Amino acid sequence: MSESRQSDPNASLIARVWRSVFRGPILPESDRDRKWIVFNTLLLHARPIRVPASTIRYTHTFGLGGMSLLLVLLLMGSGALLMLAYEPSSQGAHDSLASLERDVLFGRLVRSVHYWSANLVVFALCLHVLRVLLTGAFRGPRQFNWIVGLSLLACVLLSNFTGYLLPWDQDSYWAVTIVTGMVEYVPLVGGWLQRVIRSGAEIGTSTILTFYALHTTFVPGALIALMALHFWRVRKAGGVVRPDVPGAGRPETVLFLPNLLIREVAVALTLIACVLALAMVFPAALGEAANPGMSPNPAKAPWYFMGFQELLLHFDPVFAVLVIPVVVAAGLLSLPYLRCEAAREGNWFLSDTGRRTTGVAALLGLVATPAWIVIDEFLIDPAASLPGIPPVLSYGALPFAILLGVVVGFFVFVKRRYGAGDSESIQAVFILLGTVFSILTLIGVWFRGKGMALKWPWNL
Ligand code: HEM
Repeated sequence: MSESRQSDPNASLIARVWRSVFRGPILPESDRDRKWIVFNTLLLHARPIRVPASTIRYTHTFGLGGMSLLLVLLLMGSGALLMLAYEPSSQGAHDSLASLERDVLFGRLVRSVHYWSANLVVFALCLHVLRVLLTGAFRGPRQFNWIVGLSLLACVLLSNFTGYLLPWDQDSYWAVTIVTGMVEYVPLVGGWLQRVIRSGAEIGTSTILTFYALHTTFVPGALIALMALHFWRVRKAGGVVRPDVPGAGRPETVLFLPNLLIREVAVALTLIACVLALAMVFPAALGEAANPGMSPNPAKAPWYFMGFQELLLHFDPVFAVLVIPVVVAAGLLSLPYLRCEAAREGNWFLSDTGRRTTGVAALLGLVATPAWIVIDEFLIDPAASLPGIPPVLSYGALPFAILLGVVVGFFVFVKRRYGAGDSESIQAVFILLGTVFSILTLIGVWFRGKGMALKWPWNL
């Protein structure tokens, strides 16, 4: 047995881990050695020993995937504590949380950490998706991981939505009423689907029980399984995407521990500090107990569904809640499988042309969305302009065809005007749609007052 492979029983803990990771494995001579071998094996299965130097720069990924993971873990930890106090029934839910906040030490803090982690994870995930999109990291060999990622996003949204009802205050009751009300517009099966989601005709204790079971068992289970698959695929793809410089040979690498680990720990500690600060300064609200007989005005969906509620004000419901979401979801799912010329993956915006076309797309979305909303709200009334035509055509198919025409026209425009390739043009179209949806969400949240009329935020 060589000297370097033997363990020194008197060495410090850190020295032993360090030595075993970088100078070769410790051969088990004692139970203590065996434990360290298990620890190192776990650590190095999750992360490689060496990582490309270019990928540990903060601006390469902004650590958004890791931040999402940490927020999910915070959600699970704080959620497990909340379960000790929460009572899943329409009579007990609100009181149990009020008493948690009033009578339990740090009860309000735990609830607020849960609330902020839930909102921040949606935000972090949107930015993570944007990062993956703008660096072209969804292409082969990562295309399946893009699909796993979309399933994760769906799980996080479902987790947020099912959790939204649980406080059973006015806001949560009416937000869930609105979102489940949108489902009714799905042709043929809408009414049935709505009753399945509500677990009955009305929202009540059986809805709380169904949402509680999904929120605390099924969705977290799916999240854990999908996250494991997601990280394994990242590892299988050789780590995160990086620019492939032709003829540059093998990339320069650095040791994961301490180079990358120390950066990740710094990001994690900063994020935890931010969540705690937000939870202390802006604690989660608990409004008056739900009153099914009195709807607040305006009654709004949770912020991440506000874009759809805003769409409902401009499109026929069939298009707002079915056709547009299905077309967008199909576009996102098929994105990695679209045939394009070789793209410069790993480069932000793919190329200088990509940078320019992305800027043009964002600017167009920023200007055209508010303009379209104002025109639709104050200048054009399709029902009056096209009398006798059913609303599903005048409010639905017609504006949808115009929207589709704008998107296709924009795709052709960036190709011809800027000489963009397929990848850059597709990227620009997604940025355009993403900007439109973000503006719709902002308008719904901050610019809609009583009766969903347009108002300045300071007049709400
Ligand atoms: C709970 C949700 C999620 C977690 C915890 C998570 C976590 C991560 C982490 C830690 C990475 C490694 C690099 C990085 O930090 O960016 C990563 C990469 C990746 N993620 Fe996610 N992710 C989630 C959701 C998503 C979503 C919604 C998508 C896209 C729809 C997605 C697509 C990808 C892809 C394609 C990669 C590989 C990127 C590359 O190689 O550069 N992920 N994710």
